[in-house]
Amino acid sequence: MQGLFSKVSVLAAVFVMSSAHAAGNAGDVASGKSIYLNGKGDVPACNSCHGQDAMGDDAMGTPRLAGQGFAYTAKQLKDFADDKRMDTVMYVMNTNAKGMSDQDMMDVAAYLENLEYDALASSDMNQVKELGNPVGVRYLGKGIAQHGAPERGVSACHSCHSYNGRGMYPIYPMIGGQKYVYLVNQLKQFRDGSRANDQMGQMRTVAKNMSDEDIYNVATFLTSAPRTTMGNSRWPENKPH
Ligand code: HEC
Ligand code: HEC
Repeated sequence: MQGLFSKVSVLAAVFVMSSAHAAGNAGDVASGKSIYLNGKGDVPACNSCHGQDAMGDDAMGTPRLAGQGFAYTAKQLKDFADDKRMDTVMYVMNTNAKGMSDQDMMDVAAYLENLEYDALASSDMNQVKELGNPVGVRYLGKGIAQHGAPERGVSACHSCHSYNGRGMYPIYPMIGGQKYVYLVNQLKQFRDGSRANDQMGQMRTVAKNMSDEDIYNVATFLTSAPRTTMGNSRWPENKPH
């Protein structure tokens, strides 16, 4: 009986999660838009750093937020608020998130997931170089994304983050089309353990075996990796909106 009962509740939880996702989710898009563009109380507007279109900025080291999965974004804000993840680039996100209620976090996450964006936008690699960042070799990074580097214990990114890093929601974020500087920073933070909010240490296990070159190569590929499959212009099933 006990076993049956827990199976039923797990199924019920999965159903609630997936139906919430299908129906939009628990966030209010209009409220999220207002917070994103205008801020709320002591919480500053997000667009000043993440961009009006939420596509991020390599000069500031901010990530793209547009199109990211709802549950992932809400979790990051919660983790910043609880100091489980630290903003070590501008030292602002922990304070920003502490000023937000759980509902505010869900509202912004819903707004961002539903935002329309340029699917082919990526980092301007000339700008990235001019800013003084080392860059990698795209085809070598594609190899790591698709196959990993088994001889060095690096798993394929596709196995969790899906094809071209387009995300496997709700757990695995979209990393394809993400800003280059941000990708490099996060991979280095997972590698040295300064970012440790990944469930069961999954990302730390992957990143700990990556060399600097692996990181630059995979980030060079991922930032310009399209969401769509070659020869098929339809958006994938798991696109969040
Ligand atoms: C002063 C600049 C600044 C402002 C304003 C700002 N952010 Fe950020 N945000 C950052 C930086 C820098 C990072 C990257 C931190 C890091 O690399 O450790 C970040 C990271 C994030 C992340 C993590 C994304 C991911 O892919 O894991 C989320 C989510 C986020 N910000 C949401 C917001 C929201 C929502 C607001 C508005 C309420 C906001 N930010 C306002 C600078 C800012
Ligand atoms: C075993 C599963 C797994 C594999 C394989 C994996 N990841 Fe991840 N990755 C995760 C999880 C889980 C998270 C989300 C952590 C969290 O919730 O904070 C994540 C998060 C990330 C992030 C942070 C995204 C953001 O917006 O801040 C980056 C960057 C990333 N992964 C890159 C990679 C790369 C590059 C590879 C391949 C070399 C890879 N991952 C392979 C599980 C995996």
